[in-house]
Amino acid sequence: MKQLLKIFAWIVGVIILFVLGFVSFVFLKWDQKYDAPYPEIRASSDSTMIARGKYLVYGPAHCAGCHNPPERALEVENGIDLPLIGGGEFDFDPGIIRSRNLTPDMETGIGKLTDGEVARVMRNSIGHDGRPIFPLMPFQNMSDYDVASIISFLRSQKPVNNFIEPTEYNFLGKAILALGLIKPEGPEMTPPKKVDIEVSEVYGKYLANSVANCVGCHSPRDLMTGEFTGPKFSGGLEFEEVPGAKFITPNLTPDPETGILASWTEDTFVERIKAGRIYEYSPMPWGSFSQMDEVDLRAIYRYLMSLDPVSNKIELTDHMKEVKKSE
Ligand code: HEC
Ligand code: HEC
Repeated sequence: MKQLLKIFAWIVGVIILFVLGFVSFVFLKWDQKYDAPYPEIRASSDSTMIARGKYLVYGPAHCAGCHNPPERALEVENGIDLPLIGGGEFDFDPGIIRSRNLTPDMETGIGKLTDGEVARVMRNSIGHDGRPIFPLMPFQNMSDYDVASIISFLRSQKPVNNFIEPTEYNFLGKAILALGLIKPEGPEMTPPKKVDIEVSEVYGKYLANSVANCVGCHSPRDLMTGEFTGPKFSGGLEFEEVPGAKFITPNLTPDPETGILASWTEDTFVERIKAGRIYEYSPMPWGSFSQMDEVDLRAIYRYLMSLDPVSNKIELTDHMKEVKKSE
């Protein structure tokens, strides 16, 4: 009996030591900083570049909806050009992630950041303070010209003093950071200098993958790590941002049986995106995308139609069926 108690005490002791060790590891390591060279990208006061940047921010790259408080997000998404004052809140399992003020205010915005610091957030997911940026902004492969245009536009906004509380990670979030599971990701290869704006598969591929993030939502993925777990654009990712309002993304590959686009003409696609949102709580930034130019939409359609068809049947969620029925 005594012997048994002794063994038990040892086991408990080892577990306590292990837990204490892990907790101290997390507290020592979660705040680790990362480094990468600053991209050689400079903002410009050229009006063509500022206009291109503005188009991307409010349209395909949809920065504007996320970088505003929730009560303004829809207005901005629907085409009202409010400045990007930050304050979007993302309440995830690892903590509350808050989008930053992107107006050129010196104290609370990006006024004090260099062009290289802002560009590095987009290219390498490393914050100006070296922290890994939560993977919500997959712009790593955006062209030099477009990144420079976006920063040029951000700098041209009116500065707005709006302090945003820092992002707060809970213990789970800190453990994920300490273990390096949220790690800054750089570009897959050298990003293009500039991509020609034309109705081509090449431009469509660039928009769908490196600017508008159609790929991020319309593909099967592991939501903990973000890894792709099946063919890209074959749909099936589930969302539930508002309790009870569950969504699933359709298959965008040209599979005649299970892909929704196989029966859409290029004009149907353009009209559908321009028409905007059907479901109130859909996570897709419909407002921003409805402001996309026809050239961009036609290019995306051509790219999607050039993909290998993947058979992946997606059933509407109960919430989506109900909304459709009540129309
Ligand atoms: C899906 C929502 C979302 C979109 C889209 C988005 N952002 Fe962000 N952004 C965030 C969040 C959330 C943070 C804070 C992340 C953190 O604290 O880890 C952030 C942080 C930043 C930062 C601050 C980094 C720092 O050093 O503090 C910059 C700069 C930035 N975003 C620029 C952009 C630009 C430019 C675009 C469009 C090309 C964009 N964002 C699109 C959500 C978004
Ligand atoms: C943040 C996630 C997200 C992003 C980014 C996103 N989508 Fe979606 N998409 C969804 C969800 C969820 C649905 C299903 C609900 C709905 O129709 O709003 C959807 C539905 C669709 C539909 C079907 C609409 C219909 O009437 O049946 C099309 C077409 C579409 N998306 C195309 C795109 C394209 C093209 C892009 C990139 C330009 C894109 N999506 C980016 C989440 C996203």
